[in-house]
Amino acid sequence: MPVTIPVNLHEYEPLARAAMSDMAWEYLAGGSGDECTMAWNRERLDAVWLWPHVLRDVSSVNTRLTLLGVDLPFPVLLAPTGFQRLFHRDGELATVRGAGASGALYTLSTAATTSLEDIAAAATGQLWFQMYVQRDRGFTLELVRRAEAAGCRALVLTVDTPVLGARDRDHRNQLELPPGLELANLRGLAAHVAGGPTFVHGASNPFLDPSLTWDALDWLVSEARLPVVVKGVLRADDAVRALERGAAAIAVSNHGGRNLDTVPAAIDALPVVAEAVRGRVPVLMDGGVRRGVDVVKALALGATAVMIGRPYLWGLGAAGAEGVERVVRLLVTELEMAMAQCGSASLAEVTRDLLRPL
Ligand code: GLV
Repeated sequence: MPVTIPVNLHEYEPLARAAMSDMAWEYLAGGSGDECTMAWNRERLDAVWLWPHVLRDVSSVNTRLTLLGVDLPFPVLLAPTGFQRLFHRDGELATVRGAGASGALYTLSTAATTSLEDIAAAATGQLWFQMYVQRDRGFTLELVRRAEAAGCRALVLTVDTPVLGARDRDHRNQLELPPGLELANLRGLAAHVAGGPTFVHGASNPFLDPSLTWDALDWLVSEARLPVVVKGVLRADDAVRALERGAAAIAVSNHGGRNLDTVPAAIDALPVVAEAVRGRVPVLMDGGVRRGVDVVKALALGATAVMIGRPYLWGLGAAGAEGVERVVRLLVTELEMAMAQCGSASLAEVTRDLLRPL
């Protein structure tokens, strides 16, 4: 029988499912609560109608951009995701190789199962570093310095997780890292040394600090030598507050529907935030992006770039580095085709008028 190679991102999902344990799959696939937001992320993207121009010269489609001082070949980034060695034995090392081969910027996660130094040593492309401000500010600052020293080009501060969401699947499975896997970046952190469970179903978690306020952003911006992207913003007023406090970019995200259920789909929150930001800093969006047309819709609604999470983990689970690379390549090829069919030869030509008014 011929081997069937996936021709779109969706087709990687069942391959990944078959390649990993039930616990790992449910952690990857799951959302919070009744998983309404997770479903809306997809449904609301599908519900946006494209409204293409015809007869424009699209013989060459240019997807290049500069984002926070970094030249990128296309506006698709790999979102931070944790625990990757649960999904494939090579985990983050496979992802960074796939990212480099495809040209995608990869956002390393604090919750990685490989240290950021080891990942950076295998990198051939651009890296950002995602972080939470830990209760231990000294440790947090050390993490920042490590990310800077490893060559990461921005810090991504996740602000939508004072506590974890009600993740029933992980609760049921008693999600825990199996022996041999650890949160490699957090060696030395008291909560880690104490050996407490990584996932706690309840309003506290040793790895998160629910007492954080906007002062934490002030602190990080003043200490860091890198631009700070604030990730997890859904409201206009919070976006403006983040800007006023020195955010270099805003990432509109509902954490893949994994945190607070019934918040709006990312594509619905995006224009609200983009209008408040008014082009002063880049706006990113993640949540449900699976197709090239999804990227076009997000850019048309004010995103500078999108991030993908689950799809590259499907690629990782199914085929390691090669799977990550291919997922990115499939999506970017679809993006080029969608731009051409919309009559957009460059990202500047992906404008709001490409969406049909409802
Ligand atoms: C961590 O941020 C997760 O979504 O599991």
